[in-house]
Amino acid sequence: MPPRWRKDLERILITERQLARRVRALSRAIERDFAGREMVVVSLLNGTVMFLADLIRRLSLPLRLDFIGVSSYGAGAASGELVFTKELRLSVRGRDVLLVDDILDTGKTLARVRAKLQALGPRRLRTCVLLNKGARRVEKIEADYVGFEIPDFFVVGYGLDFAERYRNLPFVGVLRPQVYHRAGPDLDGVGGKPPAGLAESQCPSPRRLRPGPVSSA
Ligand code: IMP
Ligand code: MG
Repeated sequence: MPPRWRKDLERILITERQLARRVRALSRAIERDFAGREMVVVSLLNGTVMFLADLIRRLSLPLRLDFIGVSSYGAGAASGELVFTKELRLSVRGRDVLLVDDILDTGKTLARVRAKLQALGPRRLRTCVLLNKGARRVEKIEADYVGFEIPDFFVVGYGLDFAERYRNLPFVGVLRPQVYHRAGPDLDGVGGKPPAGLAESQCPSPRRLRPGPVSSA
């Protein structure tokens, strides 16, 4: 791990190389399933930024891209309430849609956004997430394409943030509990509270991390 991040991160959970390889595999599966028709990729802001960029540049398919903004944790998430900060602009009626998010945790975000898209009458709606924290699921929802199954740790990097920080790390790392415990009221959007439901147990070695299933649509 670059020395710069050692005081904030416990360890690297998923390396750049593992991410690249897995994203390529996901792209291939999506390409197979969506071949033949123009697709609409709908991505959730802001955590998908790196995953999305790497995923879609590997898709040799005609596609249109749009974003939905949802504020995912902080005061809103605890009550199960989500705030939409950007609405969809493209029409998805009769379209083949791929909804992309960074991480599936309690499932509230994806369930809510998926229902919203489903109501717009797409021909087909599939979901894709980079990470899946199955242990914390509250909603009955699984993604169709999953990059990695991860244990219940709060992770940052490769687009994922804590209080809007660490998104720029090229790998996925486990945040040290001290970081969110010492987070003061100056920390934007967090107000000194740790993210909900954080585990502080030991992290498995990246070698033992198994890629999640890639289902065929
Ligand atoms: P859910 O609604 O509980 O499934 O939460 C999904 C959202 O919570 C994601 O889109 C992330 O923005 C955020 N989130 C959940 N777990 C983590 C994490 O470990 N690191 C960073 N963000 C997370
Ligand atoms: Mg987020």
